[in-house]
Amino acid sequence: MEKLLFELSKKGRKGVKLPTCDVEEVNLTQVVDGEYIREELDLPEVSELDTVRHFSRLSQLNFSIDTNFYPLGSCTMKYNPKVNERIASLEGFLNLHPFQDWETVQGILELAFLLKEYLKELGGFADVSLQPAAGAQGELLGLLLISAYHRDKGNSSKDIILVPDSAHGTNPASAAIAGFKVLTVKSDRNGELDWEDFTKKISDRVAALMITNPNTLGIFERKIKDIADALHERDALLYMDGANFNALIGRMRPGDWGVDVMHFNLHKTFSSPHGGGGPGSGPVGVSERLKPYLPVPQVEFDGKRYYLNWNIPKTVGKVLTFYGHTAVWVRALAYILAYGKEIFKVADYAILNARYLRKKLEGLFTDPYKHVPCMHEFVLSAVNLKKYGVKALDVAKRMLDYKVHPPTIYFPLIVPEALMIEPTETESKETLDYFAKVCKTIVGEAKTTPEKLKNAPYTTPVRRIKEAQANRQPILRF
Ligand SMILES: Cc1ncc(COP(=O)(O)O)c(C=O)c1O
Repeated sequence: MEKLLFELSKKGRKGVKLPTCDVEEVNLTQVVDGEYIREELDLPEVSELDTVRHFSRLSQLNFSIDTNFYPLGSCTMKYNPKVNERIASLEGFLNLHPFQDWETVQGILELAFLLKEYLKELGGFADVSLQPAAGAQGELLGLLLISAYHRDKGNSSKDIILVPDSAHGTNPASAAIAGFKVLTVKSDRNGELDWEDFTKKISDRVAALMITNPNTLGIFERKIKDIADALHERDALLYMDGANFNALIGRMRPGDWGVDVMHFNLHKTFSSPHGGGGPGSGPVGVSERLKPYLPVPQVEFDGKRYYLNWNIPKTVGKVLTFYGHTAVWVRALAYILAYGKEIFKVADYAILNARYLRKKLEGLFTDPYKHVPCMHEFVLSAVNLKKYGVKALDVAKRMLDYKVHPPTIYFPLIVPEALMIEPTETESKETLDYFAKVCKTIVGEAKTTPEKLKNAPYTTPVRRIKEAQANRQPILRF
């Protein structure tokens, strides 16, 4: 196990050499209130070399997209172009302060305005708020907008949100946090929303349906326009979870299908390093119906200056301190501009790669929706390995030994022993072929030496960890 930095500490060892002080020395108590001054500060005493080695080693312990293939379904772990990192760390962006007067931050406001315009165009929306910090917060904002709409119209009976059984867990959670009751709609044998169940459950109490398209099975919801019409007939709205927008970008616009509100996951579709939980950005696009309720402030342009518009009379208010995760906006705009009019290639290649890989994996695992073409991802099942005592978890763990990040497992919930694979458009044919070879080897091992899989991984810094324990019993101190 890697030592912590303070465990390397040796009294008197130094990693810095400060220049001789060339300003007048002051007594700390003259400038800082005594109660805030510590007599002792237990900092590690280490040499520069030890420090460099320590952090370089730590940086290699994690599995990352920069070192290996990362087909984590639903997460769109695509390559993050390094040029975007350089742009996001330009001093003009780095040194901005959120308390600066808007007159002095015309550059970032112009960038936000431009990004908003591009997202409006790509999604087919009347307006966009860049405020939410992540997809899940975008969902919550979307539901607050839906709530405001119904309140405004006096639709007091609308307290239900319909959510398909294939949905990501954040969907029902966001609906519940926004104060709605959640009613689940079944999926049909093609993996799409079951039309019969949907029409049976739609009533005057339904405020909206939350749907993901392509859905979490990687399957396109072909009835999306009929679904929108059926909802609108009852003055219910259509929320689309845009986490899978990578499959549509430049080819289809959800606003054109009648979607009233959708969150974009900038950190997925438009790239941003987001392993380990951040940073994210979940802008929300809306139809004309929901525009009056958008959060304040909105970035606007008066023909001469960009400004923050706080005057939105029916606004739901603010959903984030300050304005949003600006560094993720910078990367997203750089990403969009780099592709320009060819941005549809992202969707084309994401789908091509997924379909190629699915074909390569044929026969290794069970494919519950074999008869339906996939979009940018697909969900297989490891139930066929159950007879050898092997589970999806074992397959996933063994992949780490072959230097591949496992796919998402056990989600969507409607597929037992699910393996949800999303190769993304940025992977080469050679990488996809390697992954297929790894899967073949692992399935072979499952049949001949299943115990090898049960104890995997063997090559990672930590072996099998209790995945939920860190959440339930966090130990935050050494
Ligand atoms: C389908 C889907 N919806 C919503 C989310 C939530 O997005 P975020 O992680 O940005 O909060 C995810 C995240 O993985 C997702 O896959």
